[in-house]
Amino acid sequence: MANNILKGKRGIIFGALDENSIAWKVALKAKEEGATFTLTNAPIAMRMGEIKKLATTCNAEIIPADATSIEDLENLFTQSQEILGGKLDFVLHSIGMSPNVRKGRSYGDLNYEWFLKTLDVSGISFHKVLQTAEKLDAINEWGSILALSYIAAQRTFPDYSDMAQAKAVLESIARSYGYRFGKSKKVRVNTISQSPTKTTAGTGVTGFDAFFEYADKMSPLGNASADDCANYIIMLFSDYTRLVTMQNLMHDGGFSSTGITEDIVEMISK
Ligand code: NAI
Repeated sequence: MANNILKGKRGIIFGALDENSIAWKVALKAKEEGATFTLTNAPIAMRMGEIKKLATTCNAEIIPADATSIEDLENLFTQSQEILGGKLDFVLHSIGMSPNVRKGRSYGDLNYEWFLKTLDVSGISFHKVLQTAEKLDAINEWGSILALSYIAAQRTFPDYSDMAQAKAVLESIARSYGYRFGKSKKVRVNTISQSPTKTTAGTGVTGFDAFFEYADKMSPLGNASADDCANYIIMLFSDYTRLVTMQNLMHDGGFSSTGITEDIVEMISK
């Protein structure tokens, strides 16, 4: 069902760990829609990961980069332009990790070194990506840069812990850098706030199955899948959304606008 809406566009896709990853689905659809791109992930994730399979399918090169390292990012943007033959049109930041969540620290007993790591990997790395791209003049006019967020940036979900702060930082960076990049190079910057999704990062949060189910019942259209998220991302990389910038875009089946649903009433009344 491809329509070639990314024909001739070049990009970088961060964060494809395995076939469940949102970034993995985006890579497959971007290829279908005519884009060329490089794939990147943290060097440690490459050793564990399956990214080579995806690279073969997409005819894409892999360039390892820790998204918190400016040196790695400079190398990534420089090499990507060389490999793809010009400036880039899109970048997907699909990165999240909290050592506190991973190691089960409660929100009242956070390790602050780890908290800083959470903010750096999951939030500030987006600024690093944007700043590196701008300094290297690596993005074409009307380019589109996207990161993935979660509604815990606005409302409390207890087990999301310090990732909630990281997502708030991420969304704020999209507004501040979106302004700057819009003015300087006509580049757009947005975040997509996605439903709970069954991936490695998602299922790492305690109680994930319960809140996946709850969100599904609280959304008139049900939870948005990783495939649907990828479709939305492709559209936001395309020329059909050239004036959309500095937004946090809800992609959640209606969850964020719903007070209660019959399904939840029924569940509680049982
Ligand atoms: P995933 O676990 O497949 O992807 C997370 C990626 O971040 C992995 O590929 C991992 O290697 C990468 N990463 C971690 N540290 C890194 C670093 N220092 N440098 C470069 N890459 C690094 O999970 P998923 O769900 O596809 O996550 C993608 C994005 O979607 C994340 O930002 C996540 O917070 C967000 N999101 C996920 C939801 C979910 O329920 N799965 C809901 C809403 C947002």
